[in-house]
Formats: sequence, structure tokens, C-alpha cells
Amino acid sequence: MAAEVPSWWQTAVVYQVYIRSFADGNGDGIGDIAGMRDRLPYLAGLGIDAIWINPWYPSPMADAGYDVADYRDIEPAYGTLDEAQALVAEAHAAGIRVLLDIVPNHTSDQHAWFRAALAGEPGARQRYHFRPGRGEDGVQPPNNWQSVFGGPAWTRVADGSWYLHLFAPGQPDLNWDNGEVRAEFEDILAFWFDRGVDGFRIDVAHGMVKEPGLPDTRDAAEAVQSLVQSRAGHPAWDQDGVHEIYRGWRSVANRYRPERIFIAEAWVSSNERLARYLRPDELHTAFQFDFLRAPWRAQVLRAVVDDAIAAAATVGAPPTWVLSNHDVTRTVTRFARSQPEHLIETDWERGRWAGEDPDHVLGRRRARAAALVQLALPGTAYVYQGEELALEEIEDLPDAARQDPTWAQSGFTDVGRDGCRIPLPWNETEPSYGFATESGAATWLPQPAHWAQHSVQAQDRDPDSTLNLYRAALRLRRSLWRDAGDVKWLAVGADVAAFERGGSQCWVNTGDSDVPLPEVMSIALASAPGVRGVLPPDTAVWLRADEAPSM
Ligand code: NOJ
Ligand code: CA
Repeated sequence: MAAEVPSWWQTAVVYQVYIRSFADGNGDGIGDIAGMRDRLPYLAGLGIDAIWINPWYPSPMADAGYDVADYRDIEPAYGTLDEAQALVAEAHAAGIRVLLDIVPNHTSDQHAWFRAALAGEPGARQRYHFRPGRGEDGVQPPNNWQSVFGGPAWTRVADGSWYLHLFAPGQPDLNWDNGEVRAEFEDILAFWFDRGVDGFRIDVAHGMVKEPGLPDTRDAAEAVQSLVQSRAGHPAWDQDGVHEIYRGWRSVANRYRPERIFIAEAWVSSNERLARYLRPDELHTAFQFDFLRAPWRAQVLRAVVDDAIAAAATVGAPPTWVLSNHDVTRTVTRFARSQPEHLIETDWERGRWAGEDPDHVLGRRRARAAALVQLALPGTAYVYQGEELALEEIEDLPDAARQDPTWAQSGFTDVGRDGCRIPLPWNETEPSYGFATESGAATWLPQPAHWAQHSVQAQDRDPDSTLNLYRAALRLRRSLWRDAGDVKWLAVGADVAAFERGGSQCWVNTGDSDVPLPEVMSIALASAPGVRGVLPPDTAVWLRADEAPSM
């Protein structure tokens, strides 16, 4: 029997387009579909297989588009449905698949359903979680759950009842026990599949179903939630009932050819729990966030890789590697400070590091090495826009410029995620470094003064730039790694993670001294210029077997 050829999504490199900050086609300072269409040649030239576009639906932007007012249309600031369809067609013509972002845990408070609920339309409140309060006159929230962004997860409305929002008050949680909610989302999936979209990233895929009765968390500390791995047993997350929803979604996807796929954003307590989302009749892939939380330590990297691969294998799913996204500190900055022994708690790191100056030169060196590790592993990889430019987190935004609801909801103690969402620098010309095609309007988040040197234009002409490293890596990945088989670790020292796949090797040195490289292999790609014979600290290489000398 011929070996089964893997489907594209089992080995794909997916580029995450944070639409608001990718490229601005009409010069109003906000990224849009026109800008994306202009930049498709850039994405094709990078060598990625697919894009995932963050939510582009009409939204009051209480949480940067994760508060959706209408799931079947396009946010006017981003364009029109016709433009969206043109983008999908043009991406396909360029060999790029298109994944959208579906937000099923909550709607916007401006969604027609929530407005109907507030207006007291019969039955409308059952689509959400409305409850009377506790205490005298119901002035206390119905339970002790806290919002991920800070403060209580409940807001009181004019008639005195409360509604649940695990995120911002503008993001009321849907009630997935309600049949109308279930039917509506299957219909929304079909709406976009009918328009040629190849799949969806599922926002908060471990949410949606809550423990019946919405009980208090058992211990008060657990009431405080975050976007990091949720703890086992919390009544709002990772409930067994959620899997039935995905069986329904999978049957919708299965009606389509070519294949339509799902990728889950599920911050659950272990890779075993995550694998449950990937059973053959559920979702195709799920982000394995331990990789994104790993400190710069070879032994942690090895353990994280082994655990992710083993858990995914139990359900026949490809492992899915991600170094950063629009919710966490950029990779360069994560690696620019002292490294803990254990997995990083992503929200907490912003506070932990206050006072320790980042060494971005070091962070960049490590981020480049990490990219080579990520792209050599089996399975699929996600690249967040700007990673290919080695952009750093912008940590000194003026407070007045901050947009992330985390800032206000935390009582101005957590600066939130704006620092990883700064508009991309395309060229060296201020203002906006080519982000906006016509200059004029200020970009929606201010760009730093020194980003000309990190722009696409500047990196294009530098053969050693991170952009050119990604281009080379994505090209070589196809021949060296894509179909190369299992990871076999090589025992070469505590501070080195080195593995072989299909005769090629990937080595990364997280220690502080040089490590000799094998003489019988040649360097196919190195994360730093000038690597020869030894692997310097904070560097990775791809090695291939030397050609046998001709007789
Ligand atoms: C996860 C998204 O990635 C994040 O940006 C958003 O704030 C929450 N889900 C709520 O939708
Ligand atoms: Ca625009």
C-alpha cells in the first residue's frame, strides 16, 4: 500500500495576520483588507502555506474585534464582503490558504441577540447567561468568577439582573445549552465555507460550556483566571460537554471539498486534556502553548517537544508549534531577560520583568534560533506577523495610547497586549514606515522611533536579516523536514537540544559555551552568520549529511 500523503494542514506553516496592524490600504491608520491584498506577494515570497486572519467582522472593538456584532459581514474599517471574497480568491491563486477566526464563546454587546436580550424580547435572554444577583437586593454578582481581563465576570443591567462575561463587559458569554446558539454557529461556519474559506481558528475553544448551575470556584484563588493554561476543575473552562459541539462542527466541515479544517485555541491544563479536542471526529489541530511558554533552556525545550508530540500522537493529530501571538509578549523580548527554570506564566511575565532591562540583541539572537527549532519539528507551525522581522515588544507605549481592555479592567496595573500589536514597518520612511499607503492619519497604535532598521525594506537588502533567515528556512523546510518523520534526540550535552529527523539534524545551544558540531554533516542553515565547526551560545543550525564523495 502506498504511504498516505499528508494533507496540507498536517505540515503547514501558517502566518498569523493581525489585520489591524498588518497593512493599511486607505491611509486611515488602521490595517485593512485592501492592505492585505497589496501585500499578498510578500506573503507568497515568504513561503508560508496559509494565513490565519484575526477577527474581521463588524465590531465596536471593545476587545480588538473579539467582540463580534455580526458574524456574516466585514467590519467597515476593514472593507467589504466583496473585498473579503476577492482576498480569498487572490490568496488561493497565490497558493495560500485562508483561515478565519471564529469567536463562539461570546458576542459583542452590540450583537442583535444581546440587544434583543436587553430590550426584554421573549426568549432572548436564554441565549446568554442572565442571573439574579446575590445578597440583599441582589447587589452581589451571582458567583465569584473573575474576568480574564480583571474585575468580576458579571455586569448588572438596568432591571437589576446580571450577565456573565468571562472577558470584557462588551463580550457577553453565549449560553451553549441553547439550541438556537448551536444551530447559528453551524450556519455561520457554512456561510464562510461557502465563500471558499479553508478553515477556522476557534477562539477560547475550551470555553463555551460551563458547569451546570455556574457554581463558585472551589477556592477563591481559582476565581482569578487568565489566558494562561487554565487550572483543571474550574467550572468555566474545559468542560466535557464542549466536545459535542465540535463533533457537530466537524460534520459541517466534512461536507466540503477540498478539506476544511479547525485549529483550537484552548488553554487547558495538560496536553492530555488538549488531545481530547483532537479526536478524529472533532478538531484537526490545537495550539500547543507550552512551546510558547518555554524558557530558553534546552532541557525544558526537549521535555515540551516530547510531551506535545506524544500527546498529539495518541489521537493521530499533528503537533502544532507556536512561539508567540497577539496575546503574549513578543518572542524577542521574552528571551531578552533572565530565564526562569519552568514554563513562563504569560500574563504574569509583564509584571515580573518590571525593572529588568531587556537585552534585545540577545533576545533577537535567541528568537532566530528558536525559529529554526520550531520550523524543523514535525507537524504544523504558526508564525505571528512581525516574528519574521524579529520585532520586539513595545513596552513603553504612552498610557493614553493603550487600547487593550486589560489596562482599564485591571485598574491600570496590567499594561496588556498592545505592545505586541504595533503596526508593521514595511519601509524606512516615516510616518508609519509604509504601513499606511498614504501618510496622514496616525497609526492606531504609535510605532517606535527606531523601527526603520527593522522594516521589510531594510531587511530585504541585508542577507543576514531575520526576514531572509525565515525565507531561507521556509524554503529549506520543504526538502529537509516536511516529510522527514519522527524526532530522535541526540545526546550531546545538557545545554543543547539536538535532534535528527530523516537524516537531517537540528541543534540549538542554550548554554554559554561553544559546542563542537559533527564533522560529517554540513550546515544547511544557521541562525547566526559565520557559524563553522562549533555552535556558539544562543544559536541553532540545520545540518544535512554530506554528499558521499563521488568515486
Ligand atoms: C483569545 C484571543 O486571542 C484574545 O485576543 C481575546 O481577547 C480573547 N480570546 C477573548 O476573545
Ligand atoms: Ca485602513
